[in-house]
Amino acid sequence: MASKPQRIAGVVRPPGDKSISHRVLMMAALARGTSEIAGLLTGDDVKSSARVLRQLGADISRIQESGVRISGSRLLAPGSRLNCGNSGTTARLVLGVLAGQKFRATLTGDASLRRRPMRRVTVPLKQMGADIKEKGDGLPLTIRGGTLRGLTYTSPVASAQVKSALLFAGLTGRVPVTIREPYRSRDHTERLLAHLGLEIHERDGAISYQPSAGSIPAFQIAVPADPSSAAFLIAAAILAQEGELVVENVGVNPTRTGFIVVLERMGAHVERVNLRDAGGEPVADLLVRPAQLRGTEVTAREIPTLVDEVPILAVLASRARGETVFREVGELRVKESNRLELIAANLRAMGTRAEARGNDLFVEGNEKPPRGRVTTASDHRLAMAFAVLGTVGSADVQLSKSVAISYPNFFRDLKRCFA
Ligand code: S3P
Repeated sequence: MASKPQRIAGVVRPPGDKSISHRVLMMAALARGTSEIAGLLTGDDVKSSARVLRQLGADISRIQESGVRISGSRLLAPGSRLNCGNSGTTARLVLGVLAGQKFRATLTGDASLRRRPMRRVTVPLKQMGADIKEKGDGLPLTIRGGTLRGLTYTSPVASAQVKSALLFAGLTGRVPVTIREPYRSRDHTERLLAHLGLEIHERDGAISYQPSAGSIPAFQIAVPADPSSAAFLIAAAILAQEGELVVENVGVNPTRTGFIVVLERMGAHVERVNLRDAGGEPVADLLVRPAQLRGTEVTAREIPTLVDEVPILAVLASRARGETVFREVGELRVKESNRLELIAANLRAMGTRAEARGNDLFVEGNEKPPRGRVTTASDHRLAMAFAVLGTVGSADVQLSKSVAISYPNFFRDLKRCFA
C-alpha cells in the first residue's frame, strides 16, 4: 500500500471457509437430489474441487458467493485426468471419495501440489482395499476403488485431510471407519456428517463412522467466513495504532480458533459477539482493537488448531516483546511451499531474528520498521501475512501477489479496514 494508514475501522466480512466449502461440495455431489449452498468460497482451490466433481458427473452451477446449486448423482468414470490445481484438500479428499467407486481415475495437480505427500492418504486407503498405482510419494497417481473393508487406523500425523479422506472412503464404500490422530485436527467433516443425520461418534479421542443403509439427503447450508482468512484482518487491526474493527460472520469452531487463543495469551483481546450456529458450525462476529503483544510458546497440541495461521502469527510475533516459539511445526515444510523455511527467511529479510531449529520455529520480536523483499513462492498465505506486515508505519515490504487461492479480494478488504 502506498500510504501507511494506522487507524483501523469498520466492518468486514471475509470470504467463505475453504475447508467447509470443499466438504459441502463433495458431500452435495454424493447426495441424492439438489443441494443449495450460500457463502461458498469462490477461490481457485474450491473451483478445483468443483471442476473435478463435474468431471465425475456432478451438476454444479457457477461458483458464486450468493448461491451454488449442486445436483448429486452416482459418480461416473472421468474422461480425462482430474486436475486438482494447487489444492491439497481437493486431491486428498477426492481420493477418499473415489476409494468407494468402481472405476479408474488419475489425479494430478500443479507443480507445488505434485510435490506434496500423498502416502499419508494412500497407505490407509490401500488397507481398505483401494487399488492405487503411484510413483513415489505424490501426484500423479491412479486409483481404482470398489469393494472396501472397514478400517481402524492411527494416523501418524494430525491431519484433517487424512481423517476426512478416510471418512469419505467409509461413506462411499459403506464400511465402518475409526480414526485416531496424535492431536485433534479440524472436525468439519464430522460436523457435516452429524448435521446430515449420519452416524459419527467420538469416543476417547477416536472418531468412528458407521455406515447406514439409506442415501445422503440433499441439503441447504450457509458457509461461515474462514477464520484463517479473518486472521489476516485481525492481525492488521492488532498492529494498527488506534480504532476498532469488526470481522463479521467468522467460524469459531474450537478446532480452528487456536490463533485467537494464542493472541489472547500474547495480550490481545478478540471479543466474540452474536454467537450463533450455521449448519452445525459455531459462528460469531469478532471485535478487535490494537494491542501490544508479548512473546509466547505455541505448543504442539495447539498447532493443528492454527496450522494455516502460523505465517501471520509469526509476523505478529516479530512485532511482539520477547521471543515466540512454535513447537513441532515440521508439517509446514509440506504445505503449498516450504512455509517453515520461508517464514524464517522472509522475517530475516525484514530485519527480524528468526530461525527454524529442528521442527521448531523461533521468532524474536523487535520494533524496527520492516523493510525488504519477500519470497512468496506463489504461496497465498505467505503473501497475505507479509502484506499485513507492510501496513506497519514506515514499513517497506515488497512482494508478489498470489492470493486468489483462498481470498480473491484480500487487498481490497485490507485497504477497507483502514480509515
Ligand atoms: C485442511 C487441513 C489442513 C490445512 C489445509 C486445509 C482441510 O491440512 O492446512 O489448509 O481442509 O482439511 P492438513 O490436513 O494437511 O493438516
